[in-house]
Amino acid sequence: MCGIVGYVGFRPVLPVILDGLKKLEYRGYDSAGIVLFGQDLSIVKKQGKIARLEQELAGMQLEGQMGIGHTRWATHGVPSDENAHPHLDCSGRLALVHNGIIENYLELKTDLLESGHHFRSETDTEVIVHLVEEKLKTRPSLLEAVLAAAADLHGSFALAIASQQYPGRIVAVRRESPLVLGLGQGENFLASDIPALLPYTKDIVILSNNQVAELTREAVRVFSMDGQELQPEPVRIDWDARLAEKGGFEHFMLKEIHEQPQVIKDTLVGHIDLVNQQILLPELPDEILSKIRQISITACGTAFHAGICGKTWIEEWAGVPVEVEIASEFRYRQRPFLPDSLAVVISQSGETADTLAALRRFKEMGMPVFAITNTFGSSVTRESDWVLTTKAGPEIAVASTKAYSTQILSLLLLALRLAQIKGSQPPERLQEITRELQRLPLLCDQVLQLESRVQEYAYRLRTLDDYFILGRGLDYATSLEGALKLKEISYVHCEAYAAGELKHGPLALITAGKQVCLLATQNELLAKVASNLKEVKARGAEVLVLAGTNGSVGLEGDEIWQLPATFDLFSPLLAIIPLQLFAYYMAKEKGCDIDQPRNLAKSVTVE
Ligand code: M6R
Repeated sequence: MCGIVGYVGFRPVLPVILDGLKKLEYRGYDSAGIVLFGQDLSIVKKQGKIARLEQELAGMQLEGQMGIGHTRWATHGVPSDENAHPHLDCSGRLALVHNGIIENYLELKTDLLESGHHFRSETDTEVIVHLVEEKLKTRPSLLEAVLAAAADLHGSFALAIASQQYPGRIVAVRRESPLVLGLGQGENFLASDIPALLPYTKDIVILSNNQVAELTREAVRVFSMDGQELQPEPVRIDWDARLAEKGGFEHFMLKEIHEQPQVIKDTLVGHIDLVNQQILLPELPDEILSKIRQISITACGTAFHAGICGKTWIEEWAGVPVEVEIASEFRYRQRPFLPDSLAVVISQSGETADTLAALRRFKEMGMPVFAITNTFGSSVTRESDWVLTTKAGPEIAVASTKAYSTQILSLLLLALRLAQIKGSQPPERLQEITRELQRLPLLCDQVLQLESRVQEYAYRLRTLDDYFILGRGLDYATSLEGALKLKEISYVHCEAYAAGELKHGPLALITAGKQVCLLATQNELLAKVASNLKEVKARGAEVLVLAGTNGSVGLEGDEIWQLPATFDLFSPLLAIIPLQLFAYYMAKEKGCDIDQPRNLAKSVTVE
C-alpha cells in the first residue's frame, strides 16, 4: 500500500532510491516517482511500474545529496503521472511522499485553495505539502512546520518531506502507516519496510505511532508529536539481504513456495523440548493457557484462512471453543465474550488496518491479545500482550505462501501446547505427534517433488476460467486458501466449498467438463468424500484428487496427487503446497504478473 524511501548521505542518491523502491514494489506498483535535491531540485514521476520510471530516467544526469522516492497503490485519484508522488508545493521547492489516507483532505483543500494554493493532482496527499508550505510561513524550521501540519491531519500516514530551502535534511512522520529508519556512518535512510534498507545497514529504528524523525547525514533524531526529543532504541536485524532477492527463481512467489521446508524448520526452533518430546510455547505464559475457556481469532485474507485451520486444531485437540472472524467484520459489530477468553490476531505484515482495528477493539473490551505475526516491530507486535513471531523471513510476493505455512504451524503449536496444559489428550499421543512434527520440513520437501506434475496439469488446463476446490474438516481450510491463491494471481474464478455443502446449491454449477479438485487427506472423512466425488463425476466433472495417507483408496480421480504418509492433522501444511504451485503455474500459463497481481498490494494499511 505505497512504499516510500529516503536517503541522505555520500553515495550517488539515485541508485539507492531506485534500489529501495524495487524492494518495496510489492507494496504498490501503479506509478512511481523520485525527487533529488542538489544544486537544483529534480523530480521525475511516471505512471506504471518502476521499470517505466527507470526507462524515463535512463540517460538523465541527476545529482543530489539527498532524495526521496515513492511507489504507489492508488486510493485517491487514478494512476497517472500527475497523481504519482512526490508532490510539490506552490514554490516547487518542497517535496513530499505519503503512504496512507488523509480523511479530512477535502476540508483542508478548501481552506488551502482559499489561501491561494494551487493544486496539480487529484490526490489527498497533495494537501499535506501545501499545508506544510503554509505552516512554514510562521514556523522557524521544516521540523516545526511538519509537526504543526501533522496536528491538522486526520487519517493514517507515513510521510517523507524535504525542501531545497533546508538542504541535507529529511523529515519523516509516522501515524499508523509503517516507517523504519536505517542508521549508517555518514548516511541515513528511511523506508516503509526493512528489506529496502538491508543492502546498506542492519541497524534499524522502527518508528512508533505519532513519532517524527529528522534525518541528516550525521544524525537521526526522533521526536514525539509535541516536539519532545526521544531516545529510540535501534534494533539489529539478522535477516540476510539475499532473503529479499529472487535467488535464481523466476519469481519471488516460486522462491517463497520452495522456502517452506526451511521456514517450517526455523519456526519450530525453540518450540520443542527434545528431551521430553513436548511442545513449548514460551511466547504465551502457562498461567494464561490453563485459564483459557474460549478463543476468538481475527485476521484478513490468507491469515483468516489460517485462523479457520487453527480453529479445527484447537477445538479437536484442546477442546477449547474457537470463533474465527474476518477483521473487517468483527471491528464493526457487537460480540459478547465469556470471561477468560483469549483474542488471537494473525497478520503477516502486522500492519493490516482492519486487523489492527480489531486488535484495538479486543483491547477496549479488556481482552488479552496474542499475536501471530511475521514482522518484528510492527504495530500488531507493539500493541499485543504476547507475540509469536513466525520465522518466514521477508515475504515479497503479494500472494502469501510461506507466511501462511508458518501461521498455521504456529496455530498447531498453540493447539498442542493447550492440549498438553489442559490434559485433554493422552501424553503418549502428544509425544508421538511431537516426534512426527519434526519430520515436517522433510515431508514438505517431498511434496515439492510433485512440482513437475502440477506444471503439466496447469498446462493441460491452461484455458481454465472456472475451478472448484472441495474439502471437509481440515481440508476445508486448505480449499479456501488454495482458491484464494488461484483467484489472486491467475485471475481464474474459483469456488472453495465444504464438500458436504455441494448439494445445497453449488452442485447446480457442476456440468460436463468442469474441473474440480477434491481434497481427501482426512481418513475419518474418506467415505463422505468418496460420495462427493461420485456426485461431481456423475455430472461429468473431471476431478483431481489430492490424497492423504490412505492414498486414493476408493477414490476414482482423473488425476491423483499423493501426499507423503503422516498423521492426518499435518495435512494442511502439506496439501497447500501443490495448490500454491498450481496457482503459480496457472498464472504463468496465462501470462499474469505473478508477484504483483492486478489491483492488489502486499500490505493493506488502509481500510
Ligand atoms: O499482512 P496480513 O497477513 O495482515 O495480510 C492479510 C491479507 O491482506 C493477506 O493475507 C492477503 O489475503 C494475501 N495477499 C493473500 O495471498
